[in-house]
Amino acid sequence: MSKNSIVAGLLAATMCAFTPLAGGQLKKVDAEGREWWQHAVFYEVYPRSFADSNNDGIGDLNGIASKLGYLQRLGINAIWITPCYPSPQIDFGYDVSDYENIDPMYGTLADFDHLIAESKAHGIKIIMDFVPNHTSDQHKWFAESKSSRASPKRDWYIWRDGQGPNQPPNNWTSTFGGSAWKYDPATGQYYYHYFYAEQPDLNWRNPEVVQAMMDAMRFWYHRGVAGFRLDAVDTLYEDPDLKDNPLLPGNDKFGFPNTHEIYNKKLPEVHDIMREMRKVADEYGAVLIGETWTQNVAQLREYYGERNDELQMPMDLMMTEFKQLSAPVFREHIGAVESAGGWPVFVISNHDIVRSYTRWGDGVHNDDIAKVAAAMYLTLRGTSIMYYGEEIGMENYGPNSKDEVRDPIGRRGWPLEKGRDGERTPMQWSTAKNAGFTEGRPWLPVAPTYTTHNVASETADPHSILNFYRQLLALRRDEPALREGQYVPLNQDDPNVFAFVRRLRGQAVLVALNISGSGQTVKLDLAKAGFPSARLKVLVSSSRKPLRPVSTTLSMEPYSALVLKIAP
Ligand code: NOJ
Ligand code: CA
Repeated sequence: MSKNSIVAGLLAATMCAFTPLAGGQLKKVDAEGREWWQHAVFYEVYPRSFADSNNDGIGDLNGIASKLGYLQRLGINAIWITPCYPSPQIDFGYDVSDYENIDPMYGTLADFDHLIAESKAHGIKIIMDFVPNHTSDQHKWFAESKSSRASPKRDWYIWRDGQGPNQPPNNWTSTFGGSAWKYDPATGQYYYHYFYAEQPDLNWRNPEVVQAMMDAMRFWYHRGVAGFRLDAVDTLYEDPDLKDNPLLPGNDKFGFPNTHEIYNKKLPEVHDIMREMRKVADEYGAVLIGETWTQNVAQLREYYGERNDELQMPMDLMMTEFKQLSAPVFREHIGAVESAGGWPVFVISNHDIVRSYTRWGDGVHNDDIAKVAAAMYLTLRGTSIMYYGEEIGMENYGPNSKDEVRDPIGRRGWPLEKGRDGERTPMQWSTAKNAGFTEGRPWLPVAPTYTTHNVASETADPHSILNFYRQLLALRRDEPALREGQYVPLNQDDPNVFAFVRRLRGQAVLVALNISGSGQTVKLDLAKAGFPSARLKVLVSSSRKPLRPVSTTLSMEPYSALVLKIAP
């Protein structure tokens, strides 16, 4: 027996162990030799919209703290809080004006410390959102940078001369509309902003910027955060020669020519800085989650780093772009993820994209479809990141007219681009006024579905989406095969039923998802996949019918999910 396998055996024999890190430190691992985040379920909280403790209509840190019992009972292990730093709120927090404080609208640093302590008591870790690409134009660094061409902080941002009167330095466009350059008449130069003009890009080629940002991360590590979700990492570097991006046919939603963003996105230097951030994270045993929009799995793979020394959790955001649920499409994607290696990180919704309930619902089976989607991405190998309200089947709501829009891109791009308000509406806690989110006037309207889709009503209904999520999360926690098991696809030609087994040593859990609007009878080819036993026991079912023993020929209701244990 090799030395390595003896170590692995010893690790498996204990519930929790330590594995050596470079530098002599010890990294905590569980019975399967995994770090905490690999078997955790993360939950994204959009703080403005989660729970309002002081009734000013905007959610806050004390509101989050008051809901930790709910989150613990739900079965999640970590929350990622989108930015709650001081901010003029042009991009609702993604325009940070001080990286080392809390915006008064969300509370104080003392409230944050209280949240950390309370979360710990509930077995929940806190992940902060870190916005490295840009600051607010109200940040003191930018004020200094803008004050004069001779400012010691001039080079902290990207300032360039125009090509002539009213001619920006090149053809780069902002993803939020228009040129990515804004002219500053006082100093006669343009600054670069990939997002809003109020979000100037930092110059990551300047070592002082790197140092300042690493210090900001350390500030929060010292306060006890377990890691960061890194915003917009692929926009950190730009071509120093500012070459024009090649033009593509057509215009974007804001009426500007489409371009192929090869000179201002995904530059190789991004990986160097990810490695630097990882080194700092490793000093604190912290995890880095990346906002990594990619076109394919190979691109995503790069963010783990050639030596797994970049992001532990680059988000697979590709499923959010699937317009429809489909067995063959998911099967193909998961197959690609599995063959690429790396620890997968699945996401189906977040604060920038139409909620999965709305995106994948067919208007007839929406609640059932929400359960099928949950059963799929919460039983796969990897870590899942939920979005608040997904567990109760919240759907997108509004804006219904341009006047109602709060997200600036919705005003600029109306009606082609309506902005992101619809997926950010207040959490639906109960049937009380404003869905129990606030006694005041909520900053965004509450979706009318709160009367049926809310935490209180769904807690009382054994067949609710919420209780289905709870069952899945409990199962994920308790079944080693679901945490760690190998993914084995079944019945790969079935156009309607996506089925797979998660196998770990002698144990196996089978997941069957009918992703179609009609009933399906499926004969599971278990023997072919190497499972001689045909004795199956229902662990979780989305069906309202009582659980009963099943055979390898499954009769599945439209849009339904079954999780079964295969007897050894
Ligand atoms: C991605 C964030 O998720 C989004 O909400 C924000 O507008 C941009 N990055 C800019 O920070
Ligand atoms: Ca508040």
